[in-house]
Amino acid sequence: MTELSILEQRDALVAELQGRMSLAGEKPRYGVIGTGMMGREHLRAILQLDQAVITGICDSHPESLALAEAEFAVRGLAPPTRFASAEAMALAEQVDALFICTPNFTHRAVFDQVAPSGKPVFLEKPMATTLADALYVAEQCRHYPAPIQVGMQYRFKSQYQLALNALAAGDIGAVHMISLCEYRPPFLGKVNEWNKFTEYSGGTLVEKCCHYFDLLNRIAGSLPARVYASGGRAVNFLDFEREGKRSDIDDHAMVIVEYENGIRGQFTLNMFARELYEELIVGGAHGMIRTTEHASFQPDRPSRAHIRIEVADHEAYDGVDCTFPEDIELGGHYGSTLFEHDRFYRRLQGEQTDGATCDEGLWAIIVAAMAQDSIRAGTVIDVRTALAEQGLDPYRLSGVSE
Ligand SMILES: NC(=O)c1ccc[n+]([C@@H]2O[C@H](COP(=O)([O-])OP(=O)(O)OC[C@H]3O[C@@H](n4cnc5c(N)ncnc54)[C@H](O)[C@@H]3O)[C@@H](O)[C@H]2O)c1
Repeated sequence: MTELSILEQRDALVAELQGRMSLAGEKPRYGVIGTGMMGREHLRAILQLDQAVITGICDSHPESLALAEAEFAVRGLAPPTRFASAEAMALAEQVDALFICTPNFTHRAVFDQVAPSGKPVFLEKPMATTLADALYVAEQCRHYPAPIQVGMQYRFKSQYQLALNALAAGDIGAVHMISLCEYRPPFLGKVNEWNKFTEYSGGTLVEKCCHYFDLLNRIAGSLPARVYASGGRAVNFLDFEREGKRSDIDDHAMVIVEYENGIRGQFTLNMFARELYEELIVGGAHGMIRTTEHASFQPDRPSRAHIRIEVADHEAYDGVDCTFPEDIELGGHYGSTLFEHDRFYRRLQGEQTDGATCDEGLWAIIVAAMAQDSIRAGTVIDVRTALAEQGLDPYRLSGVSE
């Protein structure tokens, strides 16, 4: 069991993060490619942390650039240089590291545009929309001369950092079952509505749920062996059309994952809820960890994170509110985006961190893509067989022998 109480651990996480804000000395200079909703969340996180400076922005949509510049104007700051292309920004002397925050279907191409610079890259999730492209990007990352981190910040939400700490400390003994769910409102509007189409997003489980498959994979500590899923389109965007094309994305699913080490995981998605609700239950030999998060897209409904560790005599047996302090909680995705940025900053300083690697990003997509295939086929997907049939070999990449 960890020596610190849950609240002491949460406060230590926050104090550590705050201790690295506004550090003296030369700051790395970031360029952000894609200044839509997520690109601007990254801009705000970078400005809040003050570990780095933003010297470039690039977007093909003038309105997104104007909204990005407004983030600087409201803080009384001069806007960064506008670059006409990702290539031009990557090669510019004034940019040390690149954030790729463009839509999913562009990730492979934008990565290829910036890769000749050899500069550090932060690549938003999912790495790509197809397994072949994700594997391609992961292969490129392997030989890349600088750090690359994938945008998987859910692992840094308060309740998940604390759950991962408790698991690492062996609080519940050997893990056997992991259960995760997300209930939330429909997908938000995007520039050109790319997230309403599988072709551009990779599909709902790839686009949105790679975060949860990353958590399942991380907690299981193993590779997925078999995936079964049931899901479909029930409520959202059933009549949505753009440029003559009909939306084709799923809005609910149930996914079961059996891992090679015998751990069983399951994930439930429902995207026609009013509020946001996430729950994780990890069942171990000595007890359970249960976490919840309640949040909202509606104004004035603050988020709340909670964790229980149901093990005899555990101080968190009856549950602890582990919500981050308000200034951290508001720092993007309930504070998790700030922690993710800190990991990237530390990678630039040469530290090893628990920021998501390309390999981890790839395996999250593999589970998601297998689940989508299972929904369409109505059968259990054997992961090794399915990948081999597609001529893909991520095992070599992951250093796993047959
Ligand atoms: N980690 C998370 O929790 C999280 C949350 C939301 C979005 N995302 C990811 O962030 C990425 C962007 O999503 P978003 O919500 O900001 O979408 P968005 O549509 O709001 O913004 C995307 C922006 O990229 C621009 N763009 C498109 N192609 C470009 C190109 N080739 N070069 C430069 N700019 C280009 C668009 O004009 C737009 O302004 C996606 O990959 C998405 O999956 C991650």
